[in-house]
Order: sequence, then structure tokens, then C-alpha cells
Amino acid sequence: MKALILVGGFGTRLRPLTLSVPKPLVDFANKPMILHQIEALKAVGVSEVVLAINYQPEVMLNFLKDFEAKLDIKITCSQEAEPMGTAGPLALARDKLIDESGDPFFVLNSDVISEYPLKEMIKFHKAHGGEASIMVTKVDEPSKYGVVVMEDTTGQVEKFVEKPKLFVGNKINAGIYLLNPSVLNRIELRPTSIEKQVFPKIAEEKKLYAMVLPGFWMDIGMPKDYITGLRLYLDSLRKKTPSKLAAGPNIVGNVIVDETAKIGEGCLIGPDVAIGPGCIIESGVRLSNCTIMRGVRVRNHACISSSIVGWHCTIGQWARLENMTVLGEDVHVCDEIYTNGCLILPHKEIKSSLVTPEIVM
Ligand code: GDD
Ligand code: MG
Repeated sequence: MKALILVGGFGTRLRPLTLSVPKPLVDFANKPMILHQIEALKAVGVSEVVLAINYQPEVMLNFLKDFEAKLDIKITCSQEAEPMGTAGPLALARDKLIDESGDPFFVLNSDVISEYPLKEMIKFHKAHGGEASIMVTKVDEPSKYGVVVMEDTTGQVEKFVEKPKLFVGNKINAGIYLLNPSVLNRIELRPTSIEKQVFPKIAEEKKLYAMVLPGFWMDIGMPKDYITGLRLYLDSLRKKTPSKLAAGPNIVGNVIVDETAKIGEGCLIGPDVAIGPGCIIESGVRLSNCTIMRGVRVRNHACISSSIVGWHCTIGQWARLENMTVLGEDVHVCDEIYTNGCLILPHKEIKSSLVTPEIVM
């Protein structure tokens, strides 16, 4: 089977992290977002993943080269000259997606995280005999997503409305599709939206089916959702593979710590924390609801909550970061500094406290 991952767009809502790498390469739970997806695809027998990309393909390919060998999966790029939307890239990659087997192929948005129940999806797709399957999930605030109205017993989709202004339902498109090759005949080679131009038509012909996604789901393309997503992800690890979680007297709730990270005396870590490779957490540090990416040093008695600390930052002694502070790569926060909900661009040195949310450029 083949798969295509939509990795276009500039990831502006996840700046400053996306100033250093494309959004799919931003680490989530200690590995790049896109690796979570590639591993899940590999696990159900996908042999080739096409990355539909509109800028910096060499950054992605270079990065993924090692994983191609490790995971024994072919990874190729299909590059657009101009952004082709969410359907145009499928037309562009047509030859890579179709083979003599006539198998359906997966399409994934690159910024969603879930337990990827792809095996169940294949079963569902085979059983309904329609042209396309999409995964849906229930959310409280459906207006920022694609909303699906479906017949609950069969899953047949009656209506697909992208970003509705008026309430039509609370089941939303989770950005995980399984499509028959015939869907490609519906897409022209030009910028096209799969949500606005393709799915509504297939639904009209009663050939679009939706499966309610078991387990958690989150679009992690914004800091607040990224932090919530980590909590849900770690919750699910607790249920499925608790051995991957850290344990000990200084750990509270669900925490993952890379084996190469060092944690000092008297720290209190958790709940819902990810500590990446090579991090040094000195003594008496307090961490909760946060991600500390590769190579970060957190000095004695610093306190970080509800925040994301990008690669290779240093956080000074007694510093306090909170309320959705996001540090880009290689930021240095001096001793005793306080930051409240600030986005700090890469390579900055923060010498005075930032008491109200702001962007430091
Ligand atoms: N190659 C390519 N080219 N990819 C693109 C382009 C493009 O021009 N534009 C967007 N993408 C990719 C993004 O990288 C992302 O992986 C995916 O397409 C969806 O784009 P977003 O910008 O993240 O859309 P959204 O989050 O507002 O809405 C989409 O996702 C929701 C679920 O998270 C829609 O599919 C909604 O229906 C859905 O509910
Ligand atoms: Mg998104």
C-alpha cells in the first residue's frame, strides 16, 4: 500500500519552532511529528510514503534518510511549484499513488496526532464498498474544522462542510483518509481543496463513509493544542505501553524522559512532561505540562509549566516560564527571569522578565 502525507503550509501557528524546521519535523513526545505517522503507516504494511511538500524538500529528505533505512520504508517527495491545497497534491503525485494492485491509499494531514487505528480503517473501508473513507472525531468547538454529518449505523456521509459558520454537528474530519484510486479522477491538477471541492461531491453521490476514530485525537498545529495533545498522548501510552513512561519518587503522573537525558537531585517532574535527548535538568527543578526538546539545560530550581522549550535552550537558575511560553531554538533565559505566555524567537537572550504575553523578535 501507498500513503501520502500533506506537509505543505508554513506552520505559522507553531512559530517560533517552525522557524527552525518545517512543522512535521517539530518534535512531539521526543520524536518529529511525522515519524509518529510514518511508523503507524509502516505498521499496517505501507511500503511507500509520498510527502506532498511545497518548500524545502531537501530539509525533509535529508532528515528522513536515516529513518528510511531504519524503518525499511520508501520515502519520496512530490514538490509543488505553487501551493496546491489539500487535493491538488494528490493529482500531482498520481503516478506514485497508483499501482497495478489497485489498492486504496492513505492520505494524512501532517499535524494530527492519534492512536492511528489504520488497521481498523482498512477493515471499515473494505466492508462499506464506497469510494472513500475518512476518520472523524467529536470535538467541542467544531467551527475550526471540517464537519461531517453522517448516518450513524452505516457511516455513510450525508454532508461535509469545511469550517462551518453555523452549527451543523460536532463530528469533525480528523485528517486521516483512505481513498480508492478512482478518487484521483475527480481531482484536476491545480490548487484544489479536498475538503471543499472533493469530499462534498463524493458525499452527494453517497460514496463517502466516515468511521468514528477510537481513542484520542488532536490537531497539534498550535501551542495550546500541542500541550493538550501531549497530555492525551501520554494518557494513551499509560494505557497501552506504560513501560515507556518514567517512574520514580520525583515523577508525578505521565512523563517521558529520553534515556540520554540527566535529571538532578530533588526535582519534581510531571504531570504531562516530555524531556528530550541530551537534556540536563539540574537539581530542584519543577516541570509540569511541558515539552523540553533535545539538548536543553535547565539550571537549578527553575520552574516550567504549560510551555514548550525548543532545542538547545538554556534556562537560568530560579527562572520561571509559564502560561504557553514557547522558546525557539537556542534561546537563553537568564537567572531569575519570569516569562508569561511569550513567544521567543530563536537565538535570543532574555535578560529581563516578560510579565505580559508578547512576541520577542
Ligand atoms: N502539500 C501541501 N500543499 N500541503 C498543504 C497545503 C498545500 O498547499 N495546504 C495545506 N497543506 C497541508 C498542511 O500541512 C496540513 O498537514 C494539511 O494540509 C491540512 O492543512 P491545515 O492548514 O492544517 O488545515 P486545518 O487544520 O485548518 O484543517 C484541516 O485539518 C482539520 C483537522 O485537523 C482540514 O482537513 C479540516 O477539515 C480538518 O478538520
Ligand atoms: Mg491543521
